[in-house]
Amino acid sequence: MLQIFKNIFSSKPKINIESLASIGVDMHSHLVPGIDDGSKSAEESLKILERMYELGFRKIITTPHTMWGGYDNTPETISNGAQALNQFLEDQNFPLKVEASSEYYSDGHFDELIKTKNLLPFANNHILFELSYMFKPSNLAVTIFDLSVDGYKPILAHPERYNYLFDKDLKEYNKIKDSGAYLQLNLFSLVDAYGPAAKQIAHKLIDADLIDFVGTDIHNTAQLSYLDALLSDPYMDKLLQKDKLLNKTLL
Ligand SMILES: [Fe+2]
Repeated sequence: MLQIFKNIFSSKPKINIESLASIGVDMHSHLVPGIDDGSKSAEESLKILERMYELGFRKIITTPHTMWGGYDNTPETISNGAQALNQFLEDQNFPLKVEASSEYYSDGHFDELIKTKNLLPFANNHILFELSYMFKPSNLAVTIFDLSVDGYKPILAHPERYNYLFDKDLKEYNKIKDSGAYLQLNLFSLVDAYGPAAKQIAHKLIDADLIDFVGTDIHNTAQLSYLDALLSDPYMDKLLQKDKLLNKTLL
């Protein structure tokens, strides 16, 4: 009885699965087992992928870290790992294959990879990259320019997680977009995966229509509860209502 009253008086939106499914493509995750801080096994990746499939995702672009000195991945290590995962998925009769790219950490090694074109882009030359959480990079505009000149389409991962970029007018974010990069929000920022600051910045970026793509950035089965929490999150609802996301262009 109490639960019925709770449901009646709850102001939380109930997002139906069809509406969440309109995202269609997840373009940020860590599901190649054992090559970064993401999934530890093919079985764990399968569990995550099964839930994502139930929620309507129909293309999964997985993006293991390339972070020199931490996760020394190359297009070969990532492609080989993804191939083995896809074989496992096929053996288990899972209906999708994952597509593999990377989340590049922006540093001197990344600059070198851009110069030598030794990158693993996804869906018509998109490149996902991330920044330090601590320090504002001095050459961000140059990196974005270099990627664009080479025909890549740069996407900055989880802009809401770099507190140093934030000011009330969102000047830095507008600058980044003006210099030619897209912005990718982590959906789990909306449901408190990274604390109150990331959530607040995420809300402001959504309100200002600065978000181009969304991704789960899912690493493990423990994070599956965040996927379910999204179904009753007001800003998830708001973002879907705006209907401006570009994820489906990656199909
Ligand atoms: Fe990530």
